[in-house]
Amino acid sequence: MTKIIDLEIQEKVYKKKKSYISILNNFKIEVSAGEKIAIVGKSGVGKSSLLNILGLIDRNYTGTYTLFGLPTDKLSMKDLANWRNEKIGFVLQESALINSLTIEDNIKLPLLYSRSSDNKSKLLNFENIIRAIDIDSILKKKPLECSGGEKARAVFARSIIMNPSIILCDEPTASLDIENREKIIDLLFKMNKEFNTTIITVTHDNEFANRHDKVIHLERRK
Ligand SMILES: Nc1ncnc2c1ncn2[C@@H]1O[C@H](COP(=O)(O)OP(=O)(O)OP(=O)(O)O)[C@@H](O)[C@H]1O
Ligand SMILES: [Mg+2]
Repeated sequence: MTKIIDLEIQEKVYKKKKSYISILNNFKIEVSAGEKIAIVGKSGVGKSSLLNILGLIDRNYTGTYTLFGLPTDKLSMKDLANWRNEKIGFVLQESALINSLTIEDNIKLPLLYSRSSDNKSKLLNFENIIRAIDIDSILKKKPLECSGGEKARAVFARSIIMNPSIILCDEPTASLDIENREKIIDLLFKMNKEFNTTIITVTHDNEFANRHDKVIHLERRK
């Protein structure tokens, strides 16, 4: 199996005036294409911080990160932006939808920024996604008119519309009822099967975590 993620963090520090916090000390992770990894651990241990580093959102840490065989510190800003848009799907904990756009336009936003035209696939066109997670009825609404669970599903749809190689999920099922939780999990694992999509999920949901190939327990070392 091809190794696509090879990350070694010495330390991630958050510094503010008087506070100093050091997390993810000597943390290593290797992931092969198509692997499903769950990340669990107590609140504040650094799970979201880790996803930000994996997703190239945060590059302010000591360590080395090789992604798709390339050292990420060598990537240009342009490459970074493209990789974030086309190769990495990010399902954020707080849904960052744009309030002035409809749900449909929010979901289709990554397509606007895309350079490539070959990223369409049978399963992953817009209609298939919205059908799979049942959000047809909210497409014309704006985010502020939607419930938390509806927004969570819209965020999910937006993050997979480019058919990324890696999907990073930060508690994707936290605000969902059982039925919608199943729909998201099904679609996630279906993408994994069909496209060999690598899935990295942060979750407090044990049952969901145990359906991944590997569960990584994050702990505070200092
Ligand atoms: N931007 C920031 N500035 C300062 N400290 C931060 C920042 N972001 C996170 N932290 C701190 O870093 C630690 C790890 O935060 P992180 O959000 O990664 O935790 P988490 O494991 O995702 O927690 P949760 O399960 O509650 O989402 C926490 O102590 C948090 O307060
Ligand atoms: Mg978090």
